[in-house]
Amino acid sequence: MSWQLLMLNVVVIAFTSLLILEASPHLPAPKDVTVHSSNFRNSLRWSPVQVDGGSVSYTVQLKTGAYNRWSEINCTRIAQTECSFLQSAKARRWTIVLRVRAEMGPRTSAWVETDPFVAERNTTIGPPKVNSVIVSSDSLLIGVAPPFGPEAGYLFQYHVSYWENTTITTKKEIKRSDTLFKIKDLKQLTLYCFTIRVELVAYLDFHLFGLQTVPECYRTTISEAAKAGYIVVIFMSVGLLLIFIIAGFFCLWRHQKALKYLSQPPLRIPSHFEEYLREPSMPHLEMLENHDEDPQDSLTVVYTGEGSSAYGDMLDGNACSRSSSSSCDVT
Ligand SMILES: *[C@@H]1O[C@H](CO)[C@@H](O)[C@H](O)[C@H]1NC(C)=O
Ligand SMILES: *[C@@H]1O[C@H](CO)[C@@H](O)[C@H](O)[C@H]1NC(C)=O
Ligand SMILES: *[C@@H]1O[C@H](CO)[C@@H](O)[C@H](O)[C@H]1NC(C)=O
Repeated sequence: MSWQLLMLNVVVIAFTSLLILEASPHLPAPKDVTVHSSNFRNSLRWSPVQVDGGSVSYTVQLKTGAYNRWSEINCTRIAQTECSFLQSAKARRWTIVLRVRAEMGPRTSAWVETDPFVAERNTTIGPPKVNSVIVSSDSLLIGVAPPFGPEAGYLFQYHVSYWENTTITTKKEIKRSDTLFKIKDLKQLTLYCFTIRVELVAYLDFHLFGLQTVPECYRTTISEAAKAGYIVVIFMSVGLLLIFIIAGFFCLWRHQKALKYLSQPPLRIPSHFEEYLREPSMPHLEMLENHDEDPQDSLTVVYTGEGSSAYGDMLDGNACSRSSSSSCDVT
């Protein structure tokens, strides 16, 4: 009787061990198992397992430091190689360990476990968004938005590092909690660059630094005082220039004779006009004489000269004396 029982036991053990062998890890385990967490968006990712003759699925399990038992999350026999987990705010301080294995029908791979993960310690906080920059002569007014949220219980502090873009750069840093703030005491007409990162503050002793923004550079404008100064300088320059021009013309007028002597050849009136002037019987002449009260007309004759006694009457003596070599007969 007992040997029969023993036989049965042996058979059962052999059978179960066969079953175990059948279900034993045949599949290669997933590789590159990593936890990705950015701004508290958590996911587990791994490389796909390649097996001939069928599609592989994956199962992910999770346990926390407080409740040390593996439990299923919504990633059981999934086809994709990514599983997001525990996005809730309350779980951010939990210590989490995850494991994943490949499955194909009854065949499974070994589990691959992750390092302990604590969202508040392991997550990567992104850079803030720079929404606006208003440049003035001595400041930059910067508008930012947090990398995520806003969320209750979290406070964002913006650490702004800025520097003059010269060969020797000394960086300065300011810390602000408003989303609109000013970098003050800048030099006018100077290129400044800045980069910002957030510090996430939640409760006593907890803080997490985020990534920095790509540096942005802006040139400060000219100050109103300097602008007024430039305007004054420009006006004074223009005034001085005008004074010089007027003085120049005055000198020219004073030294007309010398200039006329220097200019080679002397100015001559067109020959047809000269002829016309020589012909006293021309009817147009009366028109000229009619205007003889206008001193402008007599001056025009002065320079045409060439001694035509008919027009001498029109010329006043003074003009004549100033006219050069061309004769000017005053009757
Ligand atoms: C699991 O997935 C179902 C359906 O996709 C969804 O309704 C449920 O909220 C998920 N549960 C968790 C814990 O993500
Ligand atoms: C979380 O951070 C700790 C300490 O920096 C590190 O040892 C651990 O590997 C990280 N966890 C994950 C899942 O990357
Ligand atoms: C800073 O100045 C250098 C030359 O002085 C220039 O090559 C560089 O592009 C500037 N950086 C930025 C961000 O404008």
